Amino acid sequence: MDKEQVVCRCTNVTIGDLVREIENGAKVFEDVQNTIKVGTRCKRCTMNVRDIFSKLIEL
Ligand code: FES
Repeated sequence: MDKEQVVCRCTNVTIGDLVREIENGAKVFEDVQNTIKVGTRCKRCTMNVRDIFSKLIEL
């Protein structure tokens, strides 16, 4: 996965940001919604980012 890839345009969050949050203890998607606000604005990305998060957490 390309760590520079932006997964949420509203917040400019990248795959690398999600990986960093997981390394810092994020366990469920709601954790990153709370910390870096990904997927909390227009919400168009939410399903997709939730999917990506699930894949990353399994790595
Ligand atoms: S693109 Fe992610 S909340 Fe709008």
